[in-house]
This record gives sequence, C-alpha cells and structure tokens, in this order.
Amino acid sequence: ATTAPSLTEEILRLKKERNAVILAHNYQDKAIQEIADFVGDSLGLAYKAKETEADVIVFCGVHFMAETAKIVNPGKIVVLPDANAGCSLEQSCPGPQLEAFLKANAAKNYYVIAYINCSGHVKALSDCICTSGNADKIVEAAPKDRPILFVPDQNLGSWVMERTGRKMDLWKGACYVHVEFTRDSIQQIKDEYPDAKVVAHPECTYAVRILADEVCSTEKMVGYCRNSPASTFIIVTESGMLHRLEREVPGKKFIPGPTGHCACADCRYMKLNTLQKLHDCLRDLTPRVEMDEELRKRAEKPILRMLELSR
Ligand code: 13P
Ligand code: SF4
Repeated sequence: ATTAPSLTEEILRLKKERNAVILAHNYQDKAIQEIADFVGDSLGLAYKAKETEADVIVFCGVHFMAETAKIVNPGKIVVLPDANAGCSLEQSCPGPQLEAFLKANAAKNYYVIAYINCSGHVKALSDCICTSGNADKIVEAAPKDRPILFVPDQNLGSWVMERTGRKMDLWKGACYVHVEFTRDSIQQIKDEYPDAKVVAHPECTYAVRILADEVCSTEKMVGYCRNSPASTFIIVTESGMLHRLEREVPGKKFIPGPTGHCACADCRYMKLNTLQKLHDCLRDLTPRVEMDEELRKRAEKPILRMLELSR
C-alpha cells in the first residue's frame, strides 16, 4: 500500500514543480533550515536572492528580507510563509517619519545609511544599505565631508561607531529581542560556564556587548565558533541560531544566552513561519511581495551600492 507523502516530500515536490528556491534565515526553526536550499544571514541571503535563477523565491525569514529579495529581483515571484512576519526594527523607523526628519534637517545634507532591517520606503530614502555583516565597511566608504545618519538600530550604530571611530547621528530604534539580554543575565551564565566564549549580535546593548568575546553577524558566528579553539559557546542572539551552529559545527557545545526572564530568546516574527505555511505558500504562491515600481527602483539603488561595496 502507498502511504500519503509527508509534508516535507510535498514541499520538495512543489519546489520542483514551481522551479522555486527556498531561502531561510539563521533564526528559522530547525525543520525549515533543514529543507532550505540556503541558510544564512541577511547579507548572504540578499546575494543569493540577487543571483538565483529560480522562477520563485520562497523567503523564510521576515517581511523586509523577502521585500529586499523582490527589490533586487522584480521579475520573480517572491512569497513568504506568513505576511505578518514583521520586525521591531522596521517598525521603529516608519518611512513617513524618516522623510519628515530628513526634510526638517535638509540643511545637514545627511548621508543616510540604513540597516537592512527596514521598509522599502526607508531604503528608498537612504544612500546606502548595510547589514551587521558589512556595516563597518559601508560606514568607512561613506563620504568624509558629509554627516552620517544611521537608521534604525542605535545599538548596531553605536557598535559601528566604536569600531570605525566615525561619528554618526543615530535613529533611536532597537530590536525587541536583543535588548532583552541584560548585563546580569549574561554575567550569570558566564559565571556558570567560565570556559565558554561569549558570542553576541551587535543588536545587543553596550552593557551586553562588552561582556562578549566576539560581536558579529549571525553568519560570522559560524566561522568564529568553527575556528576558535574553545569547545563551549554562549550564543547571545535569537535561539534559531543554535540549530545552524549545531549542524555546521559538530562536536562543540552551544548554550543559548538567557534574557532577563527567559532561558533563551525567540523572535516572535521569525517564529511565525512553519513547515505547513511554507508548504501552503509554495502551493498557492501567496502571500506574495508586490511593490510599486517607482518605489522599488529608488530602494534598489542603495541595496546595489551595498552589494557592490561589500564584495
Ligand atoms: P544577521 O544579518 O546578522 O543575520 O541579523 C539579522 C537580524 O534580524 C538580527 O536580528
Ligand atoms: Fe527584527 Fe529583532 Fe526579529 Fe531580527 S530578531 S527580525 S531585528 S525583531
């Protein structure tokens, strides 16, 4: 007797039928990471989205990531498992508010660098995009004779200022997940595992970053843990990262960094995606990212500048 195909088999069948590629961020659930064609950070995923030859891009991450894929690939269908997968950083800098701020401060002639965690509208108002993986490079390449406005993440912004020595005006946005790690919660786990290396994402606050042995993007965490002689790591970022590390750096121990009130940190937006929703969006080709062409063109320029600068 034949048995009904599993959800995984159905996803793979639909993927072939649609000539689709499945891209997944490092914060996705284990099952989604395992079925994806590529798992990575925002930068790696932006490159993959730009280069793919598939007809359909299924983006398992949050909305701004899928939107970025659409901006650089307007001819393709871009779907995401759950259209409500937003991002608190994106919400902390609404396009109209940034537009009004830039108008009110036109005399400053700001060079605007936007962290990729923002809307298409904010990208369209920016001179260059950056990710946590290339932020220093992008800031160093900015014109020396213009003041920089960095949006929307003040923590990433101040980390880049420390690293590059370049002063910037910072938008006061934050990631609701990463600011939940506290000096006390991380100090406590460090005391429990004195030999462990602490690896933190730059969206964490200064008080947490100074306790870390390494601060970097999610992709760079993989390389750091692989190459480090240490065998135990405290991972101070969203919990999905541990699946990626356990898969690619076998034999080492990864401990999730605890927050002030939880043993690990989940991004509620990233976690909206499930295998079932991934299956349904491949089958129905919806929810789909659509964009006004004029806005898309304006948003594409600073993304292409970033991709060029960070090669
Ligand atoms: P990375 O680009 O380092 O993966 O970060 C994305 C993100 O959303 C962090 O919260
Ligand atoms: Fe946005 Fe924070 Fe979630 Fe990353 S972890 S997608 S920055 S809310």
